[in-house]
Amino acid sequence: SLVVGQTGQNVTLPCKYDIKTNGAVYVCWGRGELPNRKCNNQLLSTDGHKVLEETRASSRYQLLGRLDEGDVSLTILKLTEEDAGRYGCRAEIPGWFNDEKHHVDLTVERGEKLLR
Ligand SMILES: *[C@@H]1O[C@H](CO)[C@@H](O)[C@H](O)[C@H]1NC(C)=O
Repeated sequence: SLVVGQTGQNVTLPCKYDIKTNGAVYVCWGRGELPNRKCNNQLLSTDGHKVLEETRASSRYQLLGRLDEGDVSLTILKLTEEDAGRYGCRAEIPGWFNDEKHHVDLTVERGEKLLR
């Protein structure tokens, strides 16, 4: 999917997995294409109940959706132009090659400057 944000604003990159069938599972977010396992350039991960703080690359990365409904959408605060690009979300569903993978392409437009 494709998401457009503006510099200085927050943006949410959508990702959901089937929590009803699988229960809460480990999910990671990374930048770029998802590799065969885990996430490249990891931004954060969750055990399905809460963000694993030791894996959070910056406080600008937040999970603000309903984790108990499998909503693991990533919110990025205070966008900069360097945030543009591809992101990957991987839910580690148990079993061989069962992981749910989603890619989101983020475009960042220059927001209007606040004049004071
Ligand atoms: C971005 O999110 C933060 C934290 O939720 C909030 O405090 C801030 O007001 C938001 N900024 C904008 C521009 O919406």
